[in-house]
Amino acid sequence: MLNHIDINKMNRLMEENRDAKQIITQLLENHQTAVSTIAHEIRNPLTLVSSSLQIMEAQHPEVKEFFNWKQTMDDIQFMCGLLNELCSFNNGSILHHSVFSIEKLLKNISVSFAISLDAEDTNIEFSSRIASGMGDFTGDKIKLEEVILNLLRNAKEAVGQRGHIFLSAQRDHNRIIIKCQDDGCGIPDHIIDTVFEPFVTDKEGGTGLGLSLSRRIVEAHGGTISAESSDKKTIFTVNLPV
Ligand SMILES: Nc1ncnc2c1ncn2[C@@H]1O[C@H](COP(=O)(O)OP(=O)(O)OP(=O)(O)O)[C@@H](O)[C@H]1O
Ligand SMILES: [Mg+2]
Repeated sequence: MLNHIDINKMNRLMEENRDAKQIITQLLENHQTAVSTIAHEIRNPLTLVSSSLQIMEAQHPEVKEFFNWKQTMDDIQFMCGLLNELCSFNNGSILHHSVFSIEKLLKNISVSFAISLDAEDTNIEFSSRIASGMGDFTGDKIKLEEVILNLLRNAKEAVGQRGHIFLSAQRDHNRIIIKCQDDGCGIPDHIIDTVFEPFVTDKEGGTGLGLSLSRRIVEAHGGTISAESSDKKTIFTVNLPV
């Protein structure tokens, strides 16, 4: 497993040498594809096990009283979630389109996010301004939700215990412009140009996949995602064609 020092060395090598950058990027992509494929293959039988247990529980409700039954079910759900996450990186550009209201989606996300902040009892102030009448949008609702949640999670991690997060969305002709702003720690200078590349992270325990996956999803919709950060004000902008 690469540690932080190895990753820094690798990043330096990639900055200094174009050929090395190309080869390492390719290797990282191959590695990620292998991880996603394995995760996908394990997820299939695990989903079967999970469904069988759910049927068993429905037919024989008394099993709920069994020692460790609930814990086992929770563990299986967790493993399914974990494997989903590992698979999703590889599937970032495969979209399942539907027609939906982006206004409703963003308003729902805002409400859930606000509730989750309240539950954690922090001094983070969250506000949103989601324009009405943005019309119908055709795209992958679940994946776009993932993008916005990634941005909000990063903003939350950046502000820590105290700060402001602001989510806005409006329509400009045939584009939807979504902005996620925060007044947290700001994006470190040394990674501002590479934050959308895989495995770029300054967090202990971070995978550095959140933004690269988000960029894949946005680009698969024909859109763009960009970041600006100065004086502790960070703005991520997602620009999607309608
Ligand atoms: N709102 C933000 N403010 C400051 N820095 C940010 C912000 N969003 C992202 N970053 C920087 O970009 C890096 C990459 O973000 P990304 O979401 O891809 O990975 P991560 O958050 O480190 O890990 P993971 O998403 O897997 O938990 C972060 O480690 C952080 O340094
Ligand atoms: Mg993240």
